[in-house]
Order: sequence, then structure tokens, then C-alpha cells
Amino acid sequence: LPNDGVHHIAIRDAKLGDAPALAKLMCELGYETTTAEMCQRLASILSDARYSTFVAEIEGRVCGMIGTFAYPGYEHNDLSGRILAMVTSGEARRRGIGRALIAAAEKDFARRGIRRIAVNTQLSRQAAHKFYEKLGYERNGWRFVKELPGGD
Ligand SMILES: CC(C)(COP(=O)(O)OP(=O)(O)OC[C@H]1O[C@@H](n2cnc3c(N)ncnc32)[C@H](O)[C@@H]1OP(=O)(O)O)[C@@H](O)C(=O)NCCC(=O)NCCS
Repeated sequence: LPNDGVHHIAIRDAKLGDAPALAKLMCELGYETTTAEMCQRLASILSDARYSTFVAEIEGRVCGMIGTFAYPGYEHNDLSGRILAMVTSGEARRRGIGRALIAAAEKDFARRGIRRIAVNTQLSRQAAHKFYEKLGYERNGWRFVKELPGGD
């Protein structure tokens, strides 16, 4: 992609046909994913109204995605929001794509009456930490993960 600052970023809802591009983006995040696997995941996700999935396109090419989830929690009466996945393809970073995806997701959350949004991110993803803080997200906790035996 030319880094000339003149490209137009278009944000739209993801569709099943985005499976190849989304599979590639998951690979970039470090999660090896085939198109067939992504088709299966999207079949569940796109048919579930709790999720929203947006892709960013530059000149018709998908170069980023954000996936969010709205859920009733134990602590509050209204729904809470989570950013479940967020990635800009390596060659398209620092051009405002992530910012545009977050703006679309926040607008969608606001439309659904959701005002609390959280996102988990690995300690090693330092660009993401700077990115989220720049966009007004505060770090306020730790994530603990554990793999139970017997999984795949
Ligand atoms: C984090 C990520 C999504 C940001 O996407 P992006 O499209 O490059 O973000 P933007 O260009 O919209 O950046 C917006 C602002 O965030 C900040 N920012 C983004 N990347 C940054 C970096 N590497 N270092 C410092 N600040 C950064 C900057 O303030 C930037 O504005 P600026 O370019 O005008 O200075 C992208 O780096 C990425 O996909 N990383 C790998 C995957 C990942 O970590 N995903 C998050 C998992 S939860």
C-alpha cells in the first residue's frame, strides 16, 4: 500500500465472503486459521446478534477487522461490551485503520445502549497498548489464563 495519506478507508459489516481475508488476519494475530475454519466461525458469529463484525477496506482490499460482543453481566443491569478481536494487516498499520474500526465499533455499541467497553490484550502486544490508551482506554486489571488438559 502506498503510504501517501490519500487512500480512503471504508468500514462495512463483515460477510461470509470475507472468510479468506479474515483467516489471513487471524494468522497475523498469531492464530493459524484456514479459510474453511473461518467460514465455520463466521457462520456462528454472523448469525448471532450479540456479535458485531466490521472490516476496513482500502481500494476494495480488506486490511483490518474488529469483532465485538455485547453481553449481560453479573455486576450491571445493562449490557456490557467487549472487543474480542482487533487487527490491522501488517503493511497497512499507522494509517488510521484501527482508529476508524474502533470508531465504528463504539458507534455500534452506543446505538445498542452499551457504555462500558473492555478489551483483553496480551502483555507482549505493546503497539496495541499504546493504541488503546491513545483512543481513551485505560488499563485497569490483569488477565490470568490457564489451559485445561484434554483440549485440542
Ligand atoms: C494495534 C493495531 C490494531 C493498531 O492498528 P492501526 O491501524 O495501526 O492503528 P491506527 O493507525 O489507527 O493508530 C491510531 C493511533 O494509535 C497509536 N498507535 C498505533 N500503533 C502504534 C504503535 N505501534 N506505537 C505507538 N503508537 C501507536 C498512535 O497514536 C496512532 O495514531 P498516529 O499514527 O496518528 O500516531 C495494530 O498495530 C495491530 O493490528 N497490531 C497487531 C495485532 C494486535 O495487537 N491487535 C490487538 C489485539 S487485542
